[in-house]
Amino acid sequence: MRKPFIAANWKMHKTVEDAVKFVEEVQHRLPSEDVLTCGIAAHFLALYPMVQKTKGINLGVIAQNSYGEFSGPYTGEVSPRALAAAGVQYVMCGHIERRTLFHEDNTMVAKKVAAVLQCGMTPIICTDETMVQQEFNGEVHYVFAQLMDVLSEVSFDQVKNIIISYEPSWAVGVGQHANPTLAEEGCRLIRRSIADTYSYEVADKIRILYGGSVNPENIQLIMSKRDIDGVLIGRASLDADNFLTMVDRVA
Ligand code: G3H
Repeated sequence: MRKPFIAANWKMHKTVEDAVKFVEEVQHRLPSEDVLTCGIAAHFLALYPMVQKTKGINLGVIAQNSYGEFSGPYTGEVSPRALAAAGVQYVMCGHIERRTLFHEDNTMVAKKVAAVLQCGMTPIICTDETMVQQEFNGEVHYVFAQLMDVLSEVSFDQVKNIIISYEPSWAVGVGQHANPTLAEEGCRLIRRSIADTYSYEVADKIRILYGGSVNPENIQLIMSKRDIDGVLIGRASLDADNFLTMVDRVA
């Protein structure tokens, strides 16, 4: 049985003060860890104060990015080792905005995933529809070569410790209705490709999240889909009450 994972991705929103205030607002209203996992992906500055504030509560701290090396002359980058030492538990690798706006490619993302795993954190490997499907003359074809490139440095032993998210660009940040059927299809095919590459047992354990215009109105329908184990919520997660409503609707 895969435990649901409800993650907020605040992107570049909120100051450190806003982030801490949010945690204070939700801390006594979250369900037990036995029911589901909650997490917040905040920008680097807010991570350490959030780790301090979330001790003992069901709210994992997620970095939105990290570098693929542990240390060295990489001005402006943040090492996964520093994140792990600060108490960060999860790191998003290859979010679609990193790929499209900051030109991250599969090789870079694969290095990040390997480094995050080596530091004992859980990578949330972000895939988008270019990694899952392509349309030819109106027909959808599914492609997994790119996803497999990103997993190239993940061993059989490590793969059970990853989380994958599927965020099709047509649904991210546009505020339009998500399409639960297509969301489920993308997640199902990702799971099948994990089964083909690793094993059915592994594929059955891995949590696959969907991201793209999730909100309090559609979260229950999305989460009712068999291969969707959680959600990565952008815009609708910024308000504490909204976030709690979505958590409650899944718990
Ligand atoms: O990581 C979250 C996704 O980019 C979804 O963002 O919920 O604002 O569409 P959104």
